[in-house]
Amino acid sequence: MIDLSQVEEELERELKRVRSLQELQQLKAKYLGKSGLITQAISNIRDLPPEERKSYGQKVNQIKNRAEELLKGKEEEIKRAELQRRLSEEWLDLSVPLQRAVGSLHPITQTLRRVKSIFLSMGFRVMEGPEVEREDYNFDLLNIPKEHPARDMQDTFYVNREGYLLRTHTSPVQIRTMLAHRPPIYMVAPGRVYRRDDDPTHSPMFHQVEGLVVDQELSFGHMKYTIEVFLREFFEADVPVRFRASYFPFTEPSAEVDIGCVICGGVGCKVCKQSGWLEVMGCGMVHPKVLENCGLDPESYQGFAFGMGVERLAMLYFRIDNIKLFFENDLRFLRQFL
Ligand code: FA5
Ligand code: MG
Repeated sequence: MIDLSQVEEELERELKRVRSLQELQQLKAKYLGKSGLITQAISNIRDLPPEERKSYGQKVNQIKNRAEELLKGKEEEIKRAELQRRLSEEWLDLSVPLQRAVGSLHPITQTLRRVKSIFLSMGFRVMEGPEVEREDYNFDLLNIPKEHPARDMQDTFYVNREGYLLRTHTSPVQIRTMLAHRPPIYMVAPGRVYRRDDDPTHSPMFHQVEGLVVDQELSFGHMKYTIEVFLREFFEADVPVRFRASYFPFTEPSAEVDIGCVICGGVGCKVCKQSGWLEVMGCGMVHPKVLENCGLDPESYQGFAFGMGVERLAMLYFRIDNIKLFFENDLRFLRQFL
């Protein structure tokens, strides 16, 4: 026979040493499992003389209930302690500032956005054209016929399809716009262009922003004013600006616009090739032949156009002395433009 008076005391004593649910499980088996002490006591009842069964049975039941109660209480105690431990060890402070680096816009993207927003504020629309462009839009309709020496001004990448090339400038978007829309036209067209060029201020892929205005009674003065206002807004300062007579087959008269070199302050350096000036765009009055090519009568409409180098503007604005830095994507460089 099992001595019932000892069972309860022993269980309480053993429970005090229990630290984990696993230990608790073992203890539970020892008392209430298939061959546990209390289970055995219950099966002992039928071996007792009938007169003893009742009181013994009641006693065993009492102890069984008590044991279940104690074990249950201990289980809750252990679970509570475990939860407490996890709450204190695994908590996350959501108010701590983010440690991981946050992405930022590439300086060329930032520059493109600024250029666009300045022209948008002046009432221009933003247009787009494809990078794989029709050869006639890139050259012929811009008054650059085949065999014309001006094609050599922009060493071209051709693609594997007759009549197509990687556009060498954004000027074909002028043609696309004039063919698709009637004047008045006030548009800028940002995008990538490609040339066989490579030095500290020339890259084989770079960005231009084309500008085209077609309206009535436009003069060179309107163009000069528009460009000067843009440059003042862009550089947030009265930078030195110089219009230099130049030649483009699609404009007449034509000019190139230089900015006083901010890298050396105009004294001369490798960026400005010791000249103190850096060319940022070409411009001019749209050639009458180009207007005609697009079905516009040069007697009733005039236009002016410009095409600026975005990397050049960015180099001057951020004071960067090598165009390659924009394309290497070295994080030490990019992190300076957060
Ligand atoms: C043109 O591309 C003309 N389409 C611009 C134009 C448009 C003139 C409308 C008249 C009317 P140009 O080849 O000079 O012109 O290039 C324009 C600008 O792009 C240059 O002033 C320069 O800032 C930039 N640029 C030219 N080549 C490169 C290059 N390889 N890498 C980076 N920027 C360049
Ligand atoms: Mg040029």
